[in-house]
Amino acid sequence: EKGGYEHFMLKEIHEQPKAIRDTLAGRIKEGIVDLSQEISLTAEELNGIDRIHFVACGTAYHAGLIGKAVVERLARIPVEVDVASEYRYRNPIITPSTLVVVVSQSGETADTLAALREAQKAGAKVLGITNVVGSSVAREADEVLMTWAGPEIAVASTKAYTSQLIAIYLFGLYLARIRGTRSEAQLKEATEELLRLPEKVDNALSDADTIKQFAEQIKNHDNLFFIGRGLDHAVVMEGSLKLKEISYIHSEAYAAGELKHGTLALIEEGIPVIALATQQDIFDKMVSNIIEVKARGAHVLGLAQDGDTELTKSVDEVFTIPQTLPLFTPVVAVIPLQLLAYYTSVARGLNVDKPRNLAKSVTVE
Ligand code: F6R
Repeated sequence: EKGGYEHFMLKEIHEQPKAIRDTLAGRIKEGIVDLSQEISLTAEELNGIDRIHFVACGTAYHAGLIGKAVVERLARIPVEVDVASEYRYRNPIITPSTLVVVVSQSGETADTLAALREAQKAGAKVLGITNVVGSSVAREADEVLMTWAGPEIAVASTKAYTSQLIAIYLFGLYLARIRGTRSEAQLKEATEELLRLPEKVDNALSDADTIKQFAEQIKNHDNLFFIGRGLDHAVVMEGSLKLKEISYIHSEAYAAGELKHGTLALIEEGIPVIALATQQDIFDKMVSNIIEVKARGAHVLGLAQDGDTELTKSVDEVFTIPQTLPLFTPVVAVIPLQLLAYYTSVARGLNVDKPRNLAKSVTVE
């Protein structure tokens, strides 16, 4: 049942190229994203949306953070992202022209469902992004965009997350086309690149040795840091959650520019720092932040794009990921972080698929 893999998590990590392919299937016609078969909102309704709220928990919330960047950049609609347990109690400003996007692998998370119902009560339309046909989210949301990751057994979510990102990209590109915020050429270029992601993920999966070695180096540490800027910040939040969840090592994910506002005090000789630097427009800023932690003795694993020569000079170890468009880097950049969590958990002899205190589906508040 684990298809020759030692754990479900590793199997599911390796199923990502397929999960992405399946989530893209049937949604691109003649090089253009077309969701009109699945989303019944008319062009007029889609044009009338004046704000979007992404609401979810845990890993799905981290997908929502990417959703904000995607929708704001592609469709120029203001987006807020909330953890569902906060959203439902904060009396958010929801109007009939708000679109609330709930993201949930299981489609049964109690807080996410409550947020969905709150939003509907306030007159907003809800788009559900879920992996389970017939789940509560699939049944109750006004519009549904399925992810086709297949059953996810390991408690730590991997293929569901990357599939959620794909659904979000599809939605962003569809919105951009309907609202005319991107040219046909730009949309085509992005769509072609989406179709190349399965192969790029495959490529990122093929080189686990650097990650295994780094897992050996961090396995006896009590604390470490992840840093990144922009989309990379959202990705390292996911990497940090994954590592905490299954290796029980404490880590924090920081927006790299925030370090000097407090956290830099915790950087001491030998502390591991994982630095993600895929965003070219803020690359130099990221390199300066890496130099700052190196100067205080941090041992840095840098995650850079193929062809990088700059980051390589300033870090202790490097893992390179295939290049893609800036908005799409999270899909490939999360791979080494998932593998790091996995191999660290294995190196510590822990129960990878069923970490302590956690359940796969959180149906109580
Ligand atoms: C972490 C993880 C959780 C879930 C969260 C939401 O690896 O799996 O953080 O992402 O409990 O679950 P769903 O997506 O089912 O609503």
